[in-house]
Amino acid sequence: MQLKNPRELVTATVLLAVLGLAAAARCDGALCDKSDKAALLAVKSALGDPPALSGWNSTAACCSWAGVSCNATTGRVTDLTVFALNISAPVPAAIANLTALRSVNLAYNRLHGGIPAFLGPRALPDLTFLRLDGNRLSGPVPPTATVFNLLLAGNQLTGQLPGTFAGAVFGDVDLADNQLTGDASVLFGAKKQLNALRLSRNRFEFDLGRVELPEAMDILEIDHNVVYGSIPAAAAARKWLAFDVSYNRLCGPIPQGRYTHRFGPKHFAGNMCLCGRPLPPCS
Ligand SMILES: *[C@@H]1O[C@H](CO)[C@@H](O)[C@H](O)[C@H]1NC(C)=O
Ligand SMILES: *[C@@H]1O[C@H](CO)[C@@H](O)[C@H](O)[C@H]1NC(C)=O
Ligand SMILES: *[C@@H]1O[C@H](CO)[C@@H](O)[C@H](O)[C@H]1NC(C)=O
Ligand SMILES: *[C@@H]1O[C@H](CO)[C@@H](O)[C@H](O)[C@H]1NC(C)=O
Repeated sequence: MQLKNPRELVTATVLLAVLGLAAAARCDGALCDKSDKAALLAVKSALGDPPALSGWNSTAACCSWAGVSCNATTGRVTDLTVFALNISAPVPAAIANLTALRSVNLAYNRLHGGIPAFLGPRALPDLTFLRLDGNRLSGPVPPTATVFNLLLAGNQLTGQLPGTFAGAVFGDVDLADNQLTGDASVLFGAKKQLNALRLSRNRFEFDLGRVELPEAMDILEIDHNVVYGSIPAAAAARKWLAFDVSYNRLCGPIPQGRYTHRFGPKHFAGNMCLCGRPLPPCS
């Protein structure tokens, strides 16, 4: 471009500035959905405007905010992480407006109150990962929380598992260190995708001898419950990464296999009448 006089220069400069602003606005729009941004600001406010989230402000594009990730094409928020910030608040209702969320991680805060029903695929259809462990959440696990990776350990949850869990598809379920009761055998089944199940230190009560181990399961930690029956014979053939059935009411011979042998007596102790290696022989 050849500029012949100052007036043209001014015009060109203004034009370039306008183009630049338009590009920035378009860019911001592309990188950050407007209503998602409003929802995030409502989340921040509901969490009590913690100093750690001071970078969540209306001037910066929301997809660049700490703990926020977006789909680069749509600008929708897909991942929300507010981890270990010692925040004391209920789970913010505004999260329900982030309808493209795939993962939510609010672990290790001091969140209290119940787990809201919107934290599941009914309200958030793409949600496959939910971490709320290490908070002070109370009340029941909602029937809508059928999220593939469901990590709710270390709260104060009570009651039984919802009936909807029997037909749900789970991969990783961690409900350890709550006060949950009743039957957890609905999570098992030969055709299930469940690969990790942690139920330690609750009051679950069911017959382990009657469950079918899901094919992919290689982590089973059910210690300190009221589980009865025997250890399924199929356990002998599994390549366990973690296995702990201690402090239940189990009975009968421990199925003998290379991988159950990796775990010492501590993982079987405190039952009614389990026997055989690594415990004393059955009489
Ligand atoms: C907004 O956040 C950015 C960091 O993302 C920070 O540099 C800026 O100072 C903040 N602005 C306000 C007004 O807080
Ligand atoms: C982003 O969203 C578009 C439209 O919904 C989808 O086709 C694409 O797979 C998404 N990208 C990623 C990386 O998930
Ligand atoms: C967490 O917050 C509480 C008050 O809500 C405070 O008493 C406590 O010291 C904080 N803990 C840490 C590690 O900051
Ligand atoms: C969700 O978004 C709608 C529409 O913008 C708004 O009216 C509503 O208050 C939002 N909900 C929460 C809990 O912020």
